Amino acid sequence: MIEAKLLNRNAIGIDINPYSIKLSSQNLNFEICDGPEILTKLGDARNLSFIKDESIDMICTHPPYADIIRYSKSIEEDISHLKYSEFLRAMKDVAEEAFRVLKRGKICAFMMGDVREHSYVKPLGMDTMQLFINAGFRLKEIVIKEQHNCRSADYWKGKQVNFLMLAHEYIFILEKSSVR
Ligand SMILES: C[S@@+](CC[C@H](N)C(=O)[O-])C[C@H]1O[C@@H](n2cnc3c(N)ncnc32)[C@H](O)[C@@H]1O
Repeated sequence: MIEAKLLNRNAIGIDINPYSIKLSSQNLNFEICDGPEILTKLGDARNLSFIKDESIDMICTHPPYADIIRYSKSIEEDISHLKYSEFLRAMKDVAEEAFRVLKRGKICAFMMGDVREHSYVKPLGMDTMQLFINAGFRLKEIVIKEQHNCRSADYWKGKQVNFLMLAHEYIFILEKSSVR
């Protein structure tokens, strides 16, 4: 949202947590000339009914990684409370809403990481990517982002484990094709 404002783009930021909205609004409280329309809105990314079909020029989103970090204690629609399969069902709705509101020929980018369960890797990144492809997007790029200084890495320091640390996350760049 800050980048959008600095680039003088109109932008809508959506989060289910009122605290996130408050924090974003505070961070966005600076003046720039021309002043684009910047809206931070409490809402559920699975239902963007207040946004018209094919009216958005770019989508940029960073969902939770299933329930590895919970962003609230008790917000019912907070998908960071959902276990792997339920989370994927929720992300299917997010992908379909993203596809609906985006203009043709435009880009949707999202960041996602993998998770471990009982020491085994679950490929949440690729599984979520596939949901966006199933919703109609075409995959343009997979960017691997290295994770440095991750707070959760401290937990494993000095412990004997038989697996590698997950040290990357993905940025998926998808396009809604300009042809039907
Ligand atoms: C990884 S954080 C990203 C936060 C912020 N967008 C950013 O990039 O810094 C995931 C966010 O998803 C929000 N979230 C969880 N469930 C949601 C839902 N159903 N609709 C919209 N946002 C949701 C959480 O409240 C949390 O702020």
